[in-house]
Amino acid sequence: MSQQTRDQGEQREQWGSRAGFLMAAIGSAVGLGNIWRFPAEAYKNGGGAFLLPYLVALLTAGLPLLILEYTVGRKFRKSPPAAFRQISRPAEVIGWWQVAICFVIAAYYAVIVAWAVRYAGFSFGKDWGKDPEKFFAGDFLHAGSEPGLPSSFVGNVFWPLLGVWIIVLAILALGVRRGIERANKIFIPALVFFFVILVLRAVTLDGAAEGLDALFSPDWSALTDGSVWVAAYGQIFFSLSIGFGIMVTYASYLGRRADLTGSALVAGFANSSFEILAGIGVFATLGFMAQANGAAVGDVVSEGVGLAFIAFPAVISQMPMGAAFGVIFFLSLAIAGLTSLVSIVQVVISAVQDRTGMRRVPAVWIVGGLVAVVSLALFPTDAGLSLLDAADHFINQYGIALAALVFLVVMAWVLRRLQPFQAHADETSAVRLGAWWRVCLGVITPVVLGWMMVDSLRKEFDENYGGYPTSFLAWAGWGVAVAAVLVGVLISLIPWRDAPVEGDAEREEVR
Ligand code: ALA
Repeated sequence: MSQQTRDQGEQREQWGSRAGFLMAAIGSAVGLGNIWRFPAEAYKNGGGAFLLPYLVALLTAGLPLLILEYTVGRKFRKSPPAAFRQISRPAEVIGWWQVAICFVIAAYYAVIVAWAVRYAGFSFGKDWGKDPEKFFAGDFLHAGSEPGLPSSFVGNVFWPLLGVWIIVLAILALGVRRGIERANKIFIPALVFFFVILVLRAVTLDGAAEGLDALFSPDWSALTDGSVWVAAYGQIFFSLSIGFGIMVTYASYLGRRADLTGSALVAGFANSSFEILAGIGVFATLGFMAQANGAAVGDVVSEGVGLAFIAFPAVISQMPMGAAFGVIFFLSLAIAGLTSLVSIVQVVISAVQDRTGMRRVPAVWIVGGLVAVVSLALFPTDAGLSLLDAADHFINQYGIALAALVFLVVMAWVLRRLQPFQAHADETSAVRLGAWWRVCLGVITPVVLGWMMVDSLRKEFDENYGGYPTSFLAWAGWGVAVAAVLVGVLISLIPWRDAPVEGDAEREEVR
């Protein structure tokens, strides 16, 4: 290892303890994806039968990729662009592409956290009244009838969003150990506490059993449908925070002797347990609503924003002690989102720090501030809802999943680095990896991700996503996804001051 690399490695911040790192990794994984995305995905894709593809996806893609990201992060102790550059110069492009993806996701993810904060407040007086749907799009978001460019600000969203950004940047400015680790050590136990209360309340509601029945009754025929498997893999990627550089970044603050595979198993299973718990809580609650309205559970399920901000307010209005339930539900959503948001913004900050040598505090305020300004300029507006929806869909499908596919093909087939990475992980880990790990990463996951691409592109050309006009999707959807790739390419073309790649010796070692 060169002297320079060793010096930089020693200066890098480090987690205070293994528990601290695990809390942060779980805090990143458990987010909006667990609470609103999983229950709806499971229901739509075969109910109880979805758990099988979900488990297969966790074991064949989720955990193996999580271990790979931990290994790359810990080995090079750098954010994705710098770490990938040390493996091979052209691979730096993938790192900056992931940084650009995180920039986009952070800008809109913060907005949903802000909505949750505002709805925790609305829950006290059940301010949405008799028509939560009209309240959400109309009174709250002032959403324009046509998707397009923003033309007016919406104070209801702007102020809570500003608050969310101040909290996130303050946590990040305090650093890895005093900021991120400490915040997660407070937020994660609080989240578990709130969530246990919510689930206990939900399963004791009248009609809860019908809700759980609807979620868990297996529709085995769904297993022969390719799109159900695609949905399971998509859920695992977003939910575990893999494929967009977060886990490489977090693992870059690990000590040299840290156990990698054991930590990945703990984080992966903790995330899935939380996800299943969220499914139980959400469906028990929907069962109550269906029974109260004499409807079938299927009629009251909705996806994404509809589930949390339309269906749940309707339930809260009807249930005994609904206000308390609402406050706890939306606070849980906000906390889960906040800890994930911190990890997403950290990717952008640490990438710029590694690239420029900038210190943490200025990097947080300049780089994090830039993400915050973009978020505040675009989303608390009349166009915010449609912009968020389009960006979310396209950056997930043609950002996270595509970048993960390219990353795996490059590592497994072009550079053939899985074997040395396996040896590196095994050196310090309690659970040793076998050939299955390389088969999962080199064959199974790329094949499934490739199939996911074909399947979703086919749907894209069959009909416009969300029924939006082509002209709108061209820039707010496709444009954003393509811009992320271009930004990746352009930034990696800028010459580095320290022309010889640091850790050339280390590159040899990894071969
Ligand atoms: N893993 C985070 C979530 O589930 C991004 O929301």
